[in-house]
Amino acid sequence: MQLVPQDALFSNEVLNEATEIMNIELLIRPNIKSLQPYRAARHDYASGILLDANENSFGSVISFDDVELNRYPDPLQAQLRSKLASLYGVQTENVFVGVGSDEAIDLLMRVFCEPGQDSIVILEPTYGMYRVSANINNVAVRSVLLTDDFQIDIEAVEQAIDPTTKMIFCCSPNNPTANLLHREDILTLARQHSAMVVVDEAYVDFSSERSLVEEIQRVPNLVVLRTLSKAWGLAALRLGAAIAQPTLISYLLKIKAPYNINALTHHEALRALPNISTMRATIAEILVERQRLAQALANIEYVERVFPSEANFLLVRVERARSVYEQLAQHGIIVRDRSAEPKLAGCLRITVGTPEQNDALITAMREIQP
Ligand SMILES: Cc1ncc(COP(=O)(O)O)c(C=O)c1O
Repeated sequence: MQLVPQDALFSNEVLNEATEIMNIELLIRPNIKSLQPYRAARHDYASGILLDANENSFGSVISFDDVELNRYPDPLQAQLRSKLASLYGVQTENVFVGVGSDEAIDLLMRVFCEPGQDSIVILEPTYGMYRVSANINNVAVRSVLLTDDFQIDIEAVEQAIDPTTKMIFCCSPNNPTANLLHREDILTLARQHSAMVVVDEAYVDFSSERSLVEEIQRVPNLVVLRTLSKAWGLAALRLGAAIAQPTLISYLLKIKAPYNINALTHHEALRALPNISTMRATIAEILVERQRLAQALANIEYVERVFPSEANFLLVRVERARSVYEQLAQHGIIVRDRSAEPKLAGCLRITVGTPEQNDALITAMREIQP
């Protein structure tokens, strides 16, 4: 593989060919490259008379199915990563599992961004954790606003990027605007820049678009984030995945906490994954409710706009959003007030509920006089 010299990474001649020749090793922080990771004896031997980890050999005070609660869990989560790889149509070495996709976001920050020096680009309004995670890691945030139809402003992104920019976060479908970003725009960014392009697909299962996971073999600087928190209904398990080329996955595995995924989560996720038809049936119900809710809300006098949704929530522009938000809370219905976000004046984000919950919301919205 031909290598791109560090200082040539941002020259246009090189970038045109970047997809073919890009080596993401050049983007990895030097201290992460040279890091000696923590190694447990369990990395070498996983069975036998286990006297290596100062666990309680007598057992634990409670039991749970066939999970050995007294033992540290598999640090490499082999079984789970293999099952998720089949689900996403990739190989095990393309999959990292984290404590929610939030852990992956944080670890990506630590793999690529030198604190106090490097930057990321985020496309706002968007999911808040990219900024929070960057702030925690002392990484500068370049905020580029989405266009008025909530798409990527490619020119503005070009202007925001410089050699310190190590990642561009694209959330698609985007939270809280609920729309898909144009696939070609995301790929264009990845092809034209040597920064990593992180596509957060937390809501893709609710959308009409296929995942960008299928592009990771062709586009070395693409990372796709998925989660079991939404379509699978398993937010309590805290399980998310980053899907990328094996080189990057090996760095994420190198720097994660040794036992980041606990045995109960591992066990329950394995139990959940075969239930794909139940998951799909729930999505179908949510989509029916999304449509019904959108129509009902659009007919309410003070609702100015219900934005099209490709996710399990609706973005709704209303008159006097704060008042609507507070009055809904008085009715015991909690939604998210996003009206202080750029481009979202008057906007509430409302998760699609069960038919009964949606009925309650619609009734309350009809009663409210903002
Ligand atoms: C776009 C987006 N990404 C990631 C997450 C967090 O996912 P997880 O529960 O896997 O940490 C959320 C949660 O709301 C989200 O909206």
